Amino acid sequence: MTGADRALARADELGRISARPDALERVHLSPQHAAADALVALWMEEAGLSTRLDAAGNRIGRREGSVPGPPALVLGSHLDTVPDAGRYDGMLGVLLAIEVADRLRDHPLPFAFEVVGFTDEEGTRFGNALFGSRAFAGAVTPEWLAVRDRAGISMGEALTAFGLDPARIGEAARRPEDLVGYLEVHIEQGPELLDAGLPLGVVSSIASARRFALEVTGRAAHAGGTPYARRRDALVGAAELVVAIEAIAEETGTIATVGRIRAFPGGVNVVPGLARLSLDLRAEHDAERDAAFARIEAEAERICAARGLGWRAEELYRADAVVCDPVLSRAIAAGIRATTGAEPPRLFSRAGHDAMAVAAVAPIGMLFVRCGNDGVSHSPDETVDAGDVAVALDAFESAVLAVAAGRP
Ligand code: GLV
Ligand code: MN
Ligand code: MN
Repeated sequence: MTGADRALARADELGRISARPDALERVHLSPQHAAADALVALWMEEAGLSTRLDAAGNRIGRREGSVPGPPALVLGSHLDTVPDAGRYDGMLGVLLAIEVADRLRDHPLPFAFEVVGFTDEEGTRFGNALFGSRAFAGAVTPEWLAVRDRAGISMGEALTAFGLDPARIGEAARRPEDLVGYLEVHIEQGPELLDAGLPLGVVSSIASARRFALEVTGRAAHAGGTPYARRRDALVGAAELVVAIEAIAEETGTIATVGRIRAFPGGVNVVPGLARLSLDLRAEHDAERDAAFARIEAEAERICAARGLGWRAEELYRADAVVCDPVLSRAIAAGIRATTGAEPPRLFSRAGHDAMAVAAVAPIGMLFVRCGNDGVSHSPDETVDAGDVAVALDAFESAVLAVAAGRP
């Protein structure tokens, strides 16, 4: 079996570790997180790495370079998923990094070499993405540990139940002087490479993002007895807001998604008195993102005032746009050229990645692999082509060797 085939078989194996029998869902600090972590630790050890779980729940494998001790070149991605996920978002990057470790196990390197399986990139459980990589970058504040999941369990309590000590979260932080750089392979999660007929691309920058919990408040009332003139229907107001958000995003060239909406009290014969919705907002630049949100706020004000409703927004997550490092990007481009013989395209990433958080402590570079199936991701219909994975592995290994050649 080739390394690429083994990575794909392992993606299938991880894909079976799910909290649900009907779909893939593996969230931060869950029993499924522990089960996936144990397998990944084993695979890292088989690839010649010694492993440890850091204070945030990230799995780290490491081998020393020709001279023991830091700094390290780090390869990685994430092991958690969205609800009803595909098998490759995050996992492919970790599994190919393990294959690179395996291929280079006897190759002397001028730096230590690490593979990280980050936890909680998606934020599915607690709503605030990039926890694992932000802890790696030393950017987790006490407020993060107070955030509660839908069952009312705080992140701090969940860390304790997982066998970790929330008071020691700072120990996951890495110092810039201990890091050569960070390289991440990820599926593109869009159709650009597919449309271009190319298997691989170099990421130029990663989108800026903010996430909010929105609440629209009205008055619960009888569905039959309440005349329209006296209704203050929170869900109808929220629905108008969702349509307005889409229009604002289209006009401003930003990307906005309401992925979750719930009406309360939730009775079929009750006018909703409260609607809760999520908002995920992205843009190439921070200023565009923030200007779009200011327009959304103004529109929420107008819609709710007209309907006698109240509204509020709580920011759960913010990540500013990040530009990939030119030197590491050149190493990735050289790795792709050495493998495919062609000059790779540069792509802007509309999806968020652990690399954005790691950028606070190390230069970052990212390699995108073409998605099949119309580029769909965050869905069980996510696919990759086995041939593309094989060239991605060759290019990833060449990129690491290109970085090594630049640091004799
Ligand atoms: C991560 O997948 C994101 O939401 O961009
Ligand atoms: Mn994702
Ligand atoms: Mn991902």
